[in-house]
Amino acid sequence: MTAGVITLIVFLCILGVAALHDNIVPPSHLQTIDPAQVSQTPPFDKPGLRKTGPKQYEAYLVAHIFAFTPESITVPAGSTVTFYATSPDVVHGFFIAGTAINMMVVPGWVSDDSHTFTKSGTYLLLCNEYCGSGHHFMYGKIVVQ
Ligand code: CUA
Repeated sequence: MTAGVITLIVFLCILGVAALHDNIVPPSHLQTIDPAQVSQTPPFDKPGLRKTGPKQYEAYLVAHIFAFTPESITVPAGSTVTFYATSPDVVHGFFIAGTAINMMVVPGWVSDDSHTFTKSGTYLLLCNEYCGSGHHFMYGKIVVQ
């Protein structure tokens, strides 16, 4: 019991020092944004898809209670899409079923990850962080044609 408590205290101290003193943030969270100004801050003032090259896209999405804006994105098969997401309110999830994309969307930060959609179909975009009473209604889709 005593050993368990001591181990726990040591563990929490290491965690506290690492988190607060070393200012550790997830490596993808390099871009910051004022969560109160998301709807006025480009490119999130006009969320959606931008074509950046042949079969290359950037998708800007706002995750908010309880939806994604835009709720649907359509790209041709073989496209590589880099997703950028932020939240004006609470922490949301950004998980695209059938891909390795699984991000936390934290107010104040822009999360990003990319995926090449080789197979056509409809991919569900789900919020997988509990964000409130409408959490289970929060979804979108990526249509690959
Ligand atoms: Cu947004 Cu759960």
